[in-house]
Amino acid sequence: MSDVQRVRAEFRQRGQEHVFRFWEDLDPDAQDRLVAQASRIDFAPLDRALSSAGKPPQIDVEAIGPVPVEALLEHGGDPADRETARQRGEDLLRAGRVGVLVVAGGQATRLGVPGPKGLFPLGPVTSRSLFAQQAQKLRHLRDRCGHAVPWLVMTSPATDAPTREAFSSNDYFGLPAEDVFFFCQSSVPSVDFQGRLLLERADRIFESPDGHGGAILALRDSGALDEMERRGIDLLFYYQVDNPLVHLGDPVFIGFHALRGAEMSCKVVRKRSAEENVGVVVQIGDQVGILEYTEIADAQREARDAQGALLYWAGNVAMHVLNTDFLRRVAADAEALLPLHPSRKKIPALDASGTPLSPDAPNGYKLERFIFDALLTARRVCVVEVRREEEYSPVKNAEGPDSPATARRDLEANYRAWLSEAGLPAPPERDSLEIDESRISGPEELRALGVEGLANAGEVLLTSPGAKA
Ligand code: UD1
Repeated sequence: MSDVQRVRAEFRQRGQEHVFRFWEDLDPDAQDRLVAQASRIDFAPLDRALSSAGKPPQIDVEAIGPVPVEALLEHGGDPADRETARQRGEDLLRAGRVGVLVVAGGQATRLGVPGPKGLFPLGPVTSRSLFAQQAQKLRHLRDRCGHAVPWLVMTSPATDAPTREAFSSNDYFGLPAEDVFFFCQSSVPSVDFQGRLLLERADRIFESPDGHGGAILALRDSGALDEMERRGIDLLFYYQVDNPLVHLGDPVFIGFHALRGAEMSCKVVRKRSAEENVGVVVQIGDQVGILEYTEIADAQREARDAQGALLYWAGNVAMHVLNTDFLRRVAADAEALLPLHPSRKKIPALDASGTPLSPDAPNGYKLERFIFDALLTARRVCVVEVRREEEYSPVKNAEGPDSPATARRDLEANYRAWLSEAGLPAPPERDSLEIDESRISGPEELRALGVEGLANAGEVLLTSPGAKA
């Protein structure tokens, strides 16, 4: 039997023969591409995911409770503990044991812009991109540590080429090229509600990135983990590309992770409301896990304590510290530990006549692995509370909450707070303000720089007078 016959027979047996519906119209190259793609599909994880579709995750509700956190000082945290953590984190950073990992494979569908989200122009004055701003933060971190901090950039098949191209045409945003590692996550097919594969083109099955949990597999399979370990790195600081307030390589977070002997750690903020679209970090028996906002039951989402405050308030801001040996352990058993989660989406697939659909309601499932499923396997997890206004304002939606407008507003509010704490005058509210984060990450450095005001700040402080008038 030829390869083509074998693959088509298997698809027929699985009720997926429709994938070859346009076979006779394809030229030989297109037929080869379709067969090659079809033969790579692994149905076992898809079958497992679809058998759980629409059902709540298998979590023992009785075992769920609030998670212990390293609280902020205003919520009872111990200042001495924070200081010890900070010092430990600084030591690890200076010892070269920390790498930084950004997941940037998402397709920015909700934001509604084409191309990688990391290239979104966010700088309030310069319109510098999220990647450019994060590269500034990394240059600052490097200067503080006294050596390079490698930056692992996870792309997806859709974002890989434009991301690499943007880095190379922008001189790696001021970083040495050898300290930036791109690696590409895998894809998984999407399916309709009956579990039937969809077509993107007559010669192509519809696939989408396998979720940020795919980072764990891609780190191993790309050789990035080997390279980190060769450089003596055993801790990765993980974050999402969409948050311009991220404190890259935060020493307090890294320090708490190490001091508590954790294998994976999480930063959390207090949820704005029960309905906010963030996962919540909870205790589940002896383990720590995240109930994702798309999957949490109403009883948990709304639960309140005796004072009427949200019981499950610890919103996941998707910043983690992970041990590299833990990542290897999870990758080795990924099919069990990182299941695919189905979520209902509008999928622009072909209809039976070959016309592309533009559905206005969900018409199928995309399937994704979640990095935080790894928490359930960690021998120890550390959860650190941070201030939302200082560290979390993501760019998710085109308008309204979590949009470019709110992210810029919150970024500028931080810059203004730094100026005020440094005793420096801030520009009028109608002016846009931007600070060079390769030089400045808070008020102390503004003071140390000897900047007396906007006039003598050079490129460090930029304003755009009247931009918001
Ligand atoms: C995510 C978290 C949620 C958390 C919130 C915080 C999930 C499933 N949930 O929600 O618990 O509270 O962020 O902001 O992630 N990405 C990839 N490859 C993929 C999918 C996503 O690299 O295949 C990246 C995206 O580029 C983005 C990030 O992961 O940087 C988050 O993806 P997004 O879809 O925005 O997650 P949320 O639904 O907002």
